[in-house]
Amino acid sequence: MTIEIAQRLLAWYQKHSRHLPWRDVVDPYRVWVSEIMLQQTRVDTVIPYYQRWMERFPTLTHLARANEQEVLQAWEGLGYYSRGRNLHRAARLVMEKYGGKLPCQREQLQKLPGIGRYTAAAIASIAFGQDAPALDGNVRRVLARLFDVRLPVRSAEGEERLRQLAAEHLPAGRAGDYNQALMDLGATICTPRAPACERCPLAALCQARALNLQEERPLTVKRPPVPHLIASAAVLRRHDGRVLITQRPAKGLLGGLWEFPGSKLEAGETPAASLQREINEELGVQIEVNQAIGVYRHAYTHFRVTLHAYECILIDGEPQAIHASDLRWVKLQALNHYPMGKIDRQIARQLQNGKGA
Ligand code: ADE
Repeated sequence: MTIEIAQRLLAWYQKHSRHLPWRDVVDPYRVWVSEIMLQQTRVDTVIPYYQRWMERFPTLTHLARANEQEVLQAWEGLGYYSRGRNLHRAARLVMEKYGGKLPCQREQLQKLPGIGRYTAAAIASIAFGQDAPALDGNVRRVLARLFDVRLPVRSAEGEERLRQLAAEHLPAGRAGDYNQALMDLGATICTPRAPACERCPLAALCQARALNLQEERPLTVKRPPVPHLIASAAVLRRHDGRVLITQRPAKGLLGGLWEFPGSKLEAGETPAASLQREINEELGVQIEVNQAIGVYRHAYTHFRVTLHAYECILIDGEPQAIHASDLRWVKLQALNHYPMGKIDRQIARQLQNGKGA
């Protein structure tokens, strides 16, 4: 059965593989960029970003020579910005340490910023033909069904078992196609709900299907609900129409991105009072909070945010970057030159369309 699974998978992949832009030419840099973008992000979302990225930074050398703000700008909208920053840092390291050529060994790849166990195996197998199994969410689901694995997929034992099964069935010399066949099968046929078993090349061998348990696999453990953060932001306008934006510290969530200065609400605080307090602490000025501009929502992995934005004016002092890395008074049209997260870009667009004050 070991060979049969791989043979069926590879034959299916040859006919039904998805046409994805990073599969056109096997180039380690292109594979690497695609794998980083695909971490936590769906294929359909990634494709246009990937294509623009390749026009802007066609080779590793182009990326290494770019500055961080250009890189963050190209990444804007994809989320999880540390991925973009790490890709950039890693490109510079590859220039210094490896003469601009991405190393082919999993172990060396995994030492580069932003490359974990999965990504190292994906690059090593797809770009360099190394026999490394790569387990992403789709692959885990396919394997858990095919072998009716009854351990929670995210447990250490479950992970180990799936890895062992993936390795056991991996056809030597064909790991890139094998891994991507499992990914495509998971994305197009062996879907989380209502899998299309009638079209699956592995249906006859699938142990969960034989027991009609395919929809009960993989076993998952319930995650606790994510915390909900309430925040507010100030669109602080100057007499010449410019607005104040601040740059977040390089490390941490949305590091290096620009935003409208804001605050997290403390218990019992109104958005306006919270803004007055925190803007004073973080920028050393007094503001007046005027009319509301909008309420914005966004879900991150570990929490979700509801943010209330207000028109504000300065009543005392000159803003200082006490907590921020930098600050600027910017014309509305120039806001596009500053990389921002989803919510702040939404506010910026709204202001540019004249829907602010
Ligand atoms: N998800 C992550 N890497 C992928 C790849 N190479 N092909 C399809 N889906 C993927």
